[in-house]
Amino acid sequence: MSKKSPQVIAVVGAQWGDEGKGKIIDYLAQDAQVVVRAQGGDNAGHTVVNNLGTFKLNIIPSGIFNPEIINIIGPGTVVNPNTVIKELENLKKQGIKGINLQISQNAHLILDYHLYQDALQEAQREKEIGTTKKGIGPAYISKFKRVGIRAGLLKDPKRLKKALDSVLKLEKQSLSNGKIPPEFQPDFYSKSINLWSKSLANYVVDTQITLKSQIDKGSTILIEGAQGTLIDLDYGTYPYTTSSNPSVNGLLLGSGIPASYLTKTIGIFKSYQSRVGSGGMPTEIKDNLGDWLRKKGHEYGTTTGRPRRVGFFDGVAANYSHLINNFDEIVITRLDILTGTKKLKLAKAYKYKSKLLNHFPTDDHILEDCSPIYADFHPWKEDLSNVKSFHDLPKQAQKYCQAILKTVPGAKLSFIGVGPERESLITL
Ligand code: IMP
Repeated sequence: MSKKSPQVIAVVGAQWGDEGKGKIIDYLAQDAQVVVRAQGGDNAGHTVVNNLGTFKLNIIPSGIFNPEIINIIGPGTVVNPNTVIKELENLKKQGIKGINLQISQNAHLILDYHLYQDALQEAQREKEIGTTKKGIGPAYISKFKRVGIRAGLLKDPKRLKKALDSVLKLEKQSLSNGKIPPEFQPDFYSKSINLWSKSLANYVVDTQITLKSQIDKGSTILIEGAQGTLIDLDYGTYPYTTSSNPSVNGLLLGSGIPASYLTKTIGIFKSYQSRVGSGGMPTEIKDNLGDWLRKKGHEYGTTTGRPRRVGFFDGVAANYSHLINNFDEIVITRLDILTGTKKLKLAKAYKYKSKLLNHFPTDDHILEDCSPIYADFHPWKEDLSNVKSFHDLPKQAQKYCQAILKTVPGAKLSFIGVGPERESLITL
């Protein structure tokens, strides 16, 4: 009998984040044995609506609703233990049983002092990045400075305490005003360490071993991207990026799955753009239509509640995202939100200093000065929520989706989202 081959599917945010990845992961997870979060931390906010209810997840992977699925918080993530504890409590409160969660021993902990540093650094910047203030950047800085604390130490609270003491001693030196806030005092963590250890130590394992055995068994493994390619630390509009790598290479590195196992990369595109925080956004809509879209799409941060900037679909950015990720398939989410819009446009190029630009500039200074050259489309008014096949979509919507697909040559369109529920998906 031939051996079953493993399927490794990377689900990548193809824009600036908030593309609706949670819903797609939840759907695809029905056929998966493992879901892995690979990067970022609780700066992400995934909303999942399924037959069990509506759930907001920040760090726990979106396969958590099925006790048969192993959910892994991978080695490339940064994990705030307080958030994991809270999220586990909420899931239990909402009736989710049989939590099947593993936290990589190599994931790094976000500690309260990182949150303090995040706020302080934002305040000190000439122009704010607009971070989520969840301590993501500072936690990754600690990791790269090699003063970070790995989740593995949750299994040994005494060692954790000792490590934290020496880390805080070092980190205190970075405070310029001589005042030492409580987050930099070892005592601040005494109670927490015991709680973290008690609540989470059992989830902490060597997830490399789990993944290897699942690969050998021929399992289907989903790597759940958080944030989006355009805020990738290396490929995004630096410095207005996050501090991790949400593009496909980052997902492989952060999950711990060797690249040669990757079978498919799926890019998730919202049918329009949104962005939170600072940075260029050539297709941003600043007038009443923008307010309408924001309201209709509930474009307010899952994590921070901040209103998101919204805009027309940016084909230049989409094409760049494809260049970085080489999508096999794409998903267009939230097409229903555009029903009834007064204007429907897609940016096919930019104009920069009177020159035509076909390639997305990652220099934010340039991006800020780009103005889009649009293709116009006819809007539709029909309700899409019960549409089940592409050919039943209004002709205008079909044309619009085909235009989006054209921006990612070679990729196939696999799903179109037409509502929040798991079933509101057109399968192609
Ligand atoms: P940080 O990740 O909290 O450091 O924030 C850096 C930038 O990434 C800010 O512009 C945030 O708004 C943005 N960001 C972080 N996480 C997300 C997300 O899940 N969706 C969208 N934007 C995000």
